[in-house]
Amino acid sequence: MRREPFSVLSRCSKQQTVVIILLAAAFAAALLTEVTSPSSAQGPAMSGGGDRLAATPWRPNKKDATYVGPQACVKCHETETGQRSTAMGRAMQPAAISAVLRTNPRLTFRSGAYSYEITRKGEQSLYTVSNGIQTFSEPILYSFGQGKAGQTYIYRHNGELHESRVSFYRDLKGLDWTMGYQLTLPSSLDDALGRAIKVNEARECFACHSTAAINGLELQLDRLIPGITCEACHGPGRDHIAAMEAKRLDDKHIFNPGKMEADELAQEFCGSCHQSAEQVLTNNLLQGVIRVRFQPYRLFTSRGHDPDDARLRCTACHNPHEDPVHDAAFYDPKCLSCHRSALSLKSAALAKAEENEGRTDKACPVAQRLCASCHMPKIEVPGTHFQFTDHRIRIVRPGEPFPS
Ligand code: HEC
Ligand code: HEC
Ligand code: HEC
Ligand code: HEC
Ligand code: HEC
Ligand code: HEC
Ligand code: HEC
Repeated sequence: MRREPFSVLSRCSKQQTVVIILLAAAFAAALLTEVTSPSSAQGPAMSGGGDRLAATPWRPNKKDATYVGPQACVKCHETETGQRSTAMGRAMQPAAISAVLRTNPRLTFRSGAYSYEITRKGEQSLYTVSNGIQTFSEPILYSFGQGKAGQTYIYRHNGELHESRVSFYRDLKGLDWTMGYQLTLPSSLDDALGRAIKVNEARECFACHSTAAINGLELQLDRLIPGITCEACHGPGRDHIAAMEAKRLDDKHIFNPGKMEADELAQEFCGSCHQSAEQVLTNNLLQGVIRVRFQPYRLFTSRGHDPDDARLRCTACHNPHEDPVHDAAFYDPKCLSCHRSALSLKSAALAKAEENEGRTDKACPVAQRLCASCHMPKIEVPGTHFQFTDHRIRIVRPGEPFPS
């Protein structure tokens, strides 16, 4: 905790001082703003912290921008075809195609007087809540998330989009309270249903979990392409296809995040959805262990690790077109592109040879492999039924509190 402001300063001094001033101003603003009760940890907490819908090269927010959908892209880009079936590619699905809803035709949950049921009828899933006297029922429109941590349902009620109060968890193979609701029991049937998502917040949910849902600055659900697909990261693609078909290679009319610097990629690009350091530090709802979910912030505050170094790019460890690799050994060469091997501690010649390869950073006195398993520990966030990987690379001491 004490280290953060220092890290911010050290990073900014290399870039522009203006950021510090902005940060300080935003900090003050955040402190002055009265905090509304965080009814849902993924909703209000994920939003806020700056103008998330500002136009960017990959999300220009132009009115009637021409999105073509991933099937048009993979005709020429076969290598990236698998992206559509990754967790990001399915970060949001309409109920009709939602894999979790299709494979779980009846889900139930009960707490006190309240019982919940999600039942499948053909292409539809009905969300039903009862207090034993009255019953409420609405069809689910969308499922958000892959259920790795949780899958939350969006439905319409009284003309407004709502978030379900129960979510599906893969770990439980069933329902439990949606994250953020686990500590208080519902006070009425109305309260038991979930929470209305206001227009501004809904735009953000859909901007982070789907493609092309924002037209101009309006949420337009009839335009959306489910999930994070090609054009969520590369921008609208019609002009690119026209140019490529006409063999005009000089201007490709498509955004390639691969050309960004390491720090910019992490904070501006991946951080636009995964939460940048600035967003986390200026949003006072994002405190404590929940911060483990915000990889751009965690990586950026890892002691000694230079966020500008290309060997620490998000894409050095993750192919954005594939799911992350779960085998810790896969990440060893990434660490060892900077760190010397343990053997070099015993051999000056080896140390010298490694230094010549650019491996100038300290060697581990403890182990030679599976670096991430000790230095990027898995940490459970209460209510998520999931252990997130801490991207604050560090020496973990037994019994130490979570370094937020
Ligand atoms: C008609 C074939 C075709 C289609 C369809 C197509 N592309 Fe391309 N794309 C190309 C070609 C050709 C290149 C240039 C390859 C090169 O320079 O080596 C390219 C390059 C790219 C690049 C790299 C650009 C750069 O600056 O390096 C990206 C990113 C990209 N395409 C994304 C997409 C996306 C997203 C879609 C769907 C909206 C799409 N492409 C559809 C043919 C196509
Ligand atoms: C447009 C928003 C958006 C952008 C940009 C984005 N992500 Fe994601 N990402 C998501 C969402 C939403 C999920 C959660 C998917 C789920 O589990 O439903 C996710 C999940 C992931 C996962 C976990 C997948 C799994 O199997 O659990 C990885 C790894 C990841 N993103 C890496 C990246 C990297 C690296 C970048 C930048 C190169 C990036 N993301 C940019 C929205 C985004
Ligand atoms: C700032 C972008 C952003 C906003 C806004 C946002 N999310 Fe997410 N959401 C993410 C990312 C990124 C992840 C993946 C987190 C991870 O794996 O560490 C995620 C994960 C989730 C998950 C868990 C998925 C899993 O892996 O099991 C659910 C459920 C979810 N979001 C629902 C929602 C709902 C509902 C809203 C709106 C009320 C919302 N999110 C708003 C970016 C966002
Ligand atoms: C989560 C964001 C994200 C999504 C979704 C995504 N890409 Fe990419 N794409 C990237 C990033 C980041 C790079 C740069 C990778 C690098 O430099 O290592 C990239 C690079 C590319 C390139 C250039 C590859 C090269 O060799 O230089 C092409 C082509 C491409 N993507 C096509 C696609 C297509 C087609 C889809 C959909 C099927 C897609 N991408 C979906 C983030 C994404
Ligand atoms: C871009 C180069 C780079 C990469 C990649 C890298 N590190 Fe480091 N790491 C450093 C530097 C520089 C330091 C500071 C070393 C020093 O104090 O001399 C450091 C420090 C550390 C420390 C000590 C932290 C502390 O609190 O004292 C650990 C542990 C560590 N790294 C582990 C890892 C692991 C594990 C990976 C892979 C998951 C990794 N590093 C990837 C450059 C890197
Ligand atoms: C079994 C757990 C474990 C594994 C696996 C592991 N480390 Fe460590 N590492 C530690 C511990 C514990 C320390 C602290 C040692 C001490 O200070 O007594 C440490 C210290 C370090 C340091 C700081 C060294 C210094 O002189 O300050 C670095 C750098 C490091 N590890 C990198 C790595 C890399 C790279 C890998 C993979 C090749 C790795 N570690 C694998 C447990 C582990
Ligand atoms: C030095 C390697 C490394 C770098 C750099 C890195 N990651 Fe990861 N990441 C990992 C490892 C290891 C995992 C855990 C994979 C597993 O065991 O499932 C992981 C998992 C994830 C997950 C899945 C959720 C979780 O908690 O397990 C997301 C999302 C993610 N990374 C996003 C990012 C983003 C965004 C960046 C850039 C800011 C980034 N990562 C940079 C190594 C890295």
